[in-house]
Amino acid sequence: DWTMAAYKTQAIEKLRQQIGKGRVICGLSGGVDSAVTAVLLHEAIGSQLTCIFVDTGMMRAGEADEVVTLFRDHYNIPLVHVDAGKQFLDKLAGVTDPETKRKTIGGLFIDVFDAEASKLGGADFLAQGTLYPDVIESVSFTGGPSVTIKSHHNVGGLPARMKLKLVEPLRELFKDEVRALGRELGLPDVFVGRHPFPGPGLAIRIPGDITFEKLEILRKADRIYLEEIRNAGLYDAIWQAFAVLLPVKTVGVMGDGRTYDNVCALRAVTSTDGMTADYFPFSHEFLGRAATRIINEVRGINRVVYDITSKPPGTIEWE
Ligand code: XMP
Repeated sequence: DWTMAAYKTQAIEKLRQQIGKGRVICGLSGGVDSAVTAVLLHEAIGSQLTCIFVDTGMMRAGEADEVVTLFRDHYNIPLVHVDAGKQFLDKLAGVTDPETKRKTIGGLFIDVFDAEASKLGGADFLAQGTLYPDVIESVSFTGGPSVTIKSHHNVGGLPARMKLKLVEPLRELFKDEVRALGRELGLPDVFVGRHPFPGPGLAIRIPGDITFEKLEILRKADRIYLEEIRNAGLYDAIWQAFAVLLPVKTVGVMGDGRTYDNVCALRAVTSTDGMTADYFPFSHEFLGRAATRIINEVRGINRVVYDITSKPPGTIEWE
C-alpha cells in the first residue's frame, strides 16, 4: 500500500522533529494501537524509546505473556514489565460508577508511568496509541448539548499533574488505517488482526465493584467464549467479542442441587471503526454450545445471555 508507506515515512519524520533528543516512554496495553505506536517510535527514535507494560490485573487470560513475548523476543525493544495488579485493585475497591472507574484507572496509569520514568532517570514524553474515534467520543461537542459519552482512559483521564508531554502519532487514524500501518511496519498478522481491547480492561466489563474473584470468573468465561469463536472460524469476521460479568444473581439447578450464581452476558459486534456497530448474528447452535461450556466449566456463573444491542443506541462496552 503506497499510501500507507508514504504516511509511515512522514509520521516518522514528524516524530523525530517533535521529540528531538528527548526520551520517550510508551505504554503498551496488549492492543494493536499501542503496539503500532511503539514500533513506529522504535523506527523513528531507536534507543530513546522505552516501552512499559503495566499489568493492571484487569487483563484477559494470557494477555501479559503475549505482549512481553512479542516485544522482547520479536522486536528486541527495551520493555519494562510492571506488575501493578494490587495497586489497581486496591484503588478500585468499592468503586462502582463507570466514569469514576475510568478516571481512577487513568490516574493510576499516570502514577505508574511517572514512577517508571523517574526510575529510568527521567523521560520527556509519554507516547499513547490514541485513535481518532477515541478523541471524538471523549470530547464535548460544541454547537449541541455538551455530552461526554465515555472518558477514554487515554484521552480524558490525564491529570494536569502529569509532567510528561504527550506523543500521539495515531491521533488522526481510524482502526483499519492503524492495522494497515502495522502491516507496513511488519507487525505479525496475528497481532494486527487482534480484536480491540480497552485500556481499562476487564474493569469496565464488571458492572459494579471489582474484586479479584470476579476478575478470575470473568477471565475463565471470556477464554472459553473466545476459544469457541476461534474454533468456529469466526474470529476474523468479528470486530470484538467478550464476556461481561453481571452483578445479578439468579437461581438455577445443577444435578440435584439449587444454584444461586451470577449472570454472564456475551457480546460480539461487527464494525469498521468502533463508532457504530451491529451485534453479530451467531447461530443458535453456536450460542448454545458456548453457554453450556461456560455454565459447566466456570463456577460462579449459572446463566448466560447474549447481548443483541447495536451501537447506537448501545455502546460496545457495557461501561
Ligand atoms: P464504546 O464502548 O465506546 O467503545 O462503544 C468503542 C471502542 O473503543 C474501545 N474502548 C476503549 N479503548 N481506552 C481504549 O483504549 C478506553 O478507555 C476505551 N473505552 C472503550 C472499545 O473496546 C471499543 O473497541
